[in-house]
Amino acid sequence: MTYSEVYAHWKADPEGFWMEAATAISWDQAPTRALSDLGDGLYEWFADAKVNTCYNAVDRHVEAGRGEQTAIIYDSPVTHTKREISYVELRNRVATLAGALRAKGIEKGDRVIIYMPMIPEAIEAMLACARIGAVHSVVFGGFASNELAVRIDDATPKAIIAASCGIEPGRTVHYKPLLDGAIEQASHKPDFCVIFQREQEVAELIEGRDVNWHGFQYGVEPADCVPVEGNHPSYILYTSGTTGQPKGVIRHTAGQLVALNWTMKNIFNVDPGDVFWAASDVGWVVGHSYIAYAPLIHGNTTIVFEGKPIGTPDAGTFWRIISEHKVKTFFTAPTAFRAVKREDSKGEYVAKYDLSCLGQVYLAGERADPDTITWAQDQLKVPVIDHWWQTETGWPIAANPLGIETLPVKLGSPAVPMPGYDVQILDEGGHPMPAGELGAIAIKLPLPPGTLPNLWNAEDRFRKSYLTTFPGYYETGDAGMMDEDGYLYIMARTDDVINVAGHRLSTGAMEEVLSGHPDVAECAVIGVADSLKGQVPLGFLCLNAGCSRSHAEINAEVVKLVRDKIGPVAAFKLSCVVDRLPKTRSGKILRGTMVSIADGTEWKQPATIDDPAVLEEITVALRALGYAK
Ligand code: COA
Ligand code: AMP
Repeated sequence: MTYSEVYAHWKADPEGFWMEAATAISWDQAPTRALSDLGDGLYEWFADAKVNTCYNAVDRHVEAGRGEQTAIIYDSPVTHTKREISYVELRNRVATLAGALRAKGIEKGDRVIIYMPMIPEAIEAMLACARIGAVHSVVFGGFASNELAVRIDDATPKAIIAASCGIEPGRTVHYKPLLDGAIEQASHKPDFCVIFQREQEVAELIEGRDVNWHGFQYGVEPADCVPVEGNHPSYILYTSGTTGQPKGVIRHTAGQLVALNWTMKNIFNVDPGDVFWAASDVGWVVGHSYIAYAPLIHGNTTIVFEGKPIGTPDAGTFWRIISEHKVKTFFTAPTAFRAVKREDSKGEYVAKYDLSCLGQVYLAGERADPDTITWAQDQLKVPVIDHWWQTETGWPIAANPLGIETLPVKLGSPAVPMPGYDVQILDEGGHPMPAGELGAIAIKLPLPPGTLPNLWNAEDRFRKSYLTTFPGYYETGDAGMMDEDGYLYIMARTDDVINVAGHRLSTGAMEEVLSGHPDVAECAVIGVADSLKGQVPLGFLCLNAGCSRSHAEINAEVVKLVRDKIGPVAAFKLSCVVDRLPKTRSGKILRGTMVSIADGTEWKQPATIDDPAVLEEITVALRALGYAK
């Protein structure tokens, strides 16, 4: 079937389409129906099924005689370590870890926070939770204590599983003190913490609360897989919204299994046994879906990479790993390719490796600029595919589905909607826009299996964030257009979310931190264009009247404050002091206009502006920082 036929097949009978896809999953009790309409915009998939994610990701492959196949390859240039874990080993390790968690009182539905770097134990911890029906919430290692504390209070975990440390180029990330700080700050306290001691840094354990990863597994009974309802939450993953309070995206068990499994062949073009590598982090949705779950559910080999595209040790690391481990499909963020290209524009490192195993490359997480795609195509001589999705959807909304059909690549477009997604471009009133015209990108409800059914403990926020603006649709928060061939173009966010090196961050959260500085009366944070990271945050500070401290000193303090409160991943390094912020007459800060001035793109003075002279002052401040050219 062609892409158009597959899409039409889905559209003609969405429930039949997903019931058919569901036959690839090993059910304890097969679903009798696909979709449940709970009313008022809420839907669930395969709710009456019984199933276990870990069984589908691990045990069933062993039972099917593939236990010796490598499930996980751990490749860590930062610790000079390589290790392979077969499916049978993975099953044994996960069953014991799950047994130890159960022996300490973790049961179906209990939340467990996982705060770990890119080591196989992070995936094992996720699978161990899934095995006993516990709901994990992985927190990215680049977040500071405060962010971890916010997640602890929202998810109220019974246990936290953490590593003693992470390794960033040139520094050790002290996870354990960050964890202790977070637990101290949080109102909710976990019953216990499991600490995986890494040899690079052994952490001090707190007696009565912390147990050692190995020690607490000693002599326990391995746990069997616990079947859970299809609509049982598999995990909660927090993502940035407009405010400092992150949104807890819920993923349901059965929908995730069916949808992710479907994507592996149809979109990413791999068969069971092939090596699939997503160079991301388990703390992000790409890591959940395409390092941990999808490759394992589909019986592929996945790679846990602890390193960076450059500097660990050089710009050839990606190519070394692809060649050495025979990667068939590689997935990364455009920013990673920009980093490599900057160091090796002529592809001298590429030429050192035999990349004949590589079939295709997928890019997501931010807009893929045509230069980067063309460079990668020229160097790698395989299709380089932009695809678009979000934490909320868990899998691609739009892509070029190479496993179905290779569609022509249009630079600047993540291609076409995948089955399950009826994507529409709407004007402010919610009316469909003609082809080629810019509007808000919305998806007609219901969303397909594997997407978010709700937000954790925040149904009102779920409705307000996604369902209210365009009744009957899910609002993506992205703006863009669709051309006459049905190709999508993703142009910008419609909210205060920015994208820094493929990481989604909230400028609102940063503003909340800056406002906490005693000398700051008012502030704004915008995302300005950056040739490496896509965007970087830039803060504007208005100081309290009478404050005579040096601006350089205050700038340094706010940079440290954001690093301490949100984390190094925010990459907040730039701020400037201004007298006033540009506002509308009703007091709304004109962030969009500031971004256009900074990036040197065309802009019009908003009709509602309060005092146009402020824009002049902002332009001067931006020029002093090297922007607004
Ligand atoms: N734990 C702790 N700190 C982390 C971290 C982690 N897991 N990940 C990043 N950080 C820190 C970095 O050490 C850095 O700190 P610094 O300010 O002390 O240098 C800061 O967060 C910013 O990190 P990063 O975004 O990695 O920037 P960089 O300048 O070190 O590297 C790139 C630039 C382009 C190489 C890097 O951003 C990259 O590899 N990007 C790809 C991102 C990606 O794959 N995203 C997945 C989305 S699909
Ligand atoms: P996250 O939830 O962290 O995956 O971030 C999702 C957001 O990243 C989307 O809403 C987009 O704004 C942006 N994004 C992801 N992939 C793409 C892409 N291929 N092109 C443009 N923007 C993208």
